[in-house]
Amino acid sequence: MSTVLPEGRDLDGVGEEAAAVDGPNRPTDLCSSGTAGGNMTSVVEYYTGKNVLITGATGFMGKVLVEKLLRTCPEVQALYILVRPKAGQSMQQRVSDMMKCKLFDRVREDNPDFHQKIIPISSELTQPGLAISPEDQERLKACINIVFHCAATIRFDEPLKWMDDDIVLDITPRLIGDRPNTYTYTKALAECVVQQEQDKLNIGIIRPSIVGASWQEPFPGWIDNFNGPSGVFIAAGKGILRTMRANNDAVADLIPVDTVVNLTLAAGWYTAVHRPKTALVYNCTTGGINPFHWGEIEHHVMSSFKRNPLDQAFRRPNANITSNYLIYQYWILVSHKFPALIYDLFLRLSGQKPQMMRIFNRLHKAIGLLEYFSSQDWEWNSENMNMLMSQLTAEDRKTFNFDVRQLNWPEYIENYCLGTKKYVLNEDMSDIPAARQHLRKLRNIRYTFNTLLVVFIWRVFIARSQMARNIWYFVVSLCFKFLSYFRASSTLTN
Ligand SMILES: NC(=O)c1ccc[n+]([C@@H]2O[C@H](COP(=O)([O-])OP(=O)(O)OC[C@H]3O[C@@H](n4cnc5c(N)ncnc54)[C@H](OP(=O)(O)O)[C@@H]3O)[C@@H](O)[C@H]2O)c1
Repeated sequence: MSTVLPEGRDLDGVGEEAAAVDGPNRPTDLCSSGTAGGNMTSVVEYYTGKNVLITGATGFMGKVLVEKLLRTCPEVQALYILVRPKAGQSMQQRVSDMMKCKLFDRVREDNPDFHQKIIPISSELTQPGLAISPEDQERLKACINIVFHCAATIRFDEPLKWMDDDIVLDITPRLIGDRPNTYTYTKALAECVVQQEQDKLNIGIIRPSIVGASWQEPFPGWIDNFNGPSGVFIAAGKGILRTMRANNDAVADLIPVDTVVNLTLAAGWYTAVHRPKTALVYNCTTGGINPFHWGEIEHHVMSSFKRNPLDQAFRRPNANITSNYLIYQYWILVSHKFPALIYDLFLRLSGQKPQMMRIFNRLHKAIGLLEYFSSQDWEWNSENMNMLMSQLTAEDRKTFNFDVRQLNWPEYIENYCLGTKKYVLNEDMSDIPAARQHLRKLRNIRYTFNTLLVVFIWRVFIARSQMARNIWYFVVSLCFKFLSYFRASSTLTN
């Protein structure tokens, strides 16, 4: 995730994630050699006095990057962030809202004037010259030392936009070839573009796997969106999601957002200090180092949401992961579509707008897009991640911790689930006892419903037909025989 920005060069390629380091035309205060613990600039020292340009700073990872830089490198000169107006909000409004966010509480405590270090620059990355005004271009050319490029559209199926829409739509399948979606295709393209510049720029590329809530910083479990696993966890916690297609035994390569940010800042330092001859690619993953599987995620998410339920759950959390297509379709029908149909009917009858089927359609689309990644095992090379760690001083390893061997998964998942409740849904933690009570009520409703269903089936189908009664008695007596056989054999063994 790194590139240099000499002589005002434009950064193209939304869909890529990169960091950029000191242009060769900049005076440098870096030591030229050394190993960890030697006479060498520490990561914090490296960022001292630097002007950093960040794209995607309003996004999930960008915000965490801004926060971490301001908190751990308070002597950084300024953070220039490229922002576009959006959803009727001006650039200034968006940035001032962002800085009020709870994420910045710790920085605010240390330095109430931290906002003075953030300089927003109006930019739209899909436009020529990134739509940066000529004055801003001059200003950036004159002062920027490092660029972190985090902006991207993270919609997996975003249509490609190059020429006539119909032509692009026609050729998209041939362009992306074996890749599962336009997201991975444009990521690969952007990496190629960045790598072509490696003779002129110091570049590092960070490839995180599936980025989740923070592990430790600034607070355990911090998360602010429904993207990827967070939306799936919330849907499961609310009792809406009952099934998902994934391989229970496949590694779920989740990586906490603060780990990615720590590695990114360390990679920025390494790229500038050591100036590797070619752009290094850092796979920022957990699978090969501290694996955790989809089946384990399911177990821990469900039990976490039973201990600390979300408010007003639709049903008790109980989602099953399966890799079998037919079983998956069966559960979709029985546990998703059928209840949605009934609920929408109820809403219609009570004069409200039906919405459940619409929610399920969106959910099915979202989990469908994840399927390619959740149904297979992935192996990533973590050599550069390990190499980078070995280059850090003991102090930097603590401050910019990305040693995922220390990650305790059950604890992380528990904090992640709590984080979705606290930071995404803004639910009050003091309401947890009431939420537990609500789950108990739902369980009682389900027991009552199941009992009534059995009685209904008995009355309508079994009690009325001699043949059905005979089959029923036969099945029941068979069960009893089995039970007595097992009881007898266990008594003999004892
Ligand atoms: N999240 C993951 O699981 C994951 C995994 C691997 C890699 N990554 C990569 O990590 C990077 C950050 O991801 P994220 O999760 O933080 O994404 P995110 O929350 O969606 O943030 C994306 C950022 O990019 C900005 N952006 C997108 N299009 C833009 C445009 N045309 N002009 C200006 N800004 C634009 C967005 O600005 P607005 O606020 O104006 O929309 C936002 O700040 C991306 O490169 C992503 O591909 C993410």
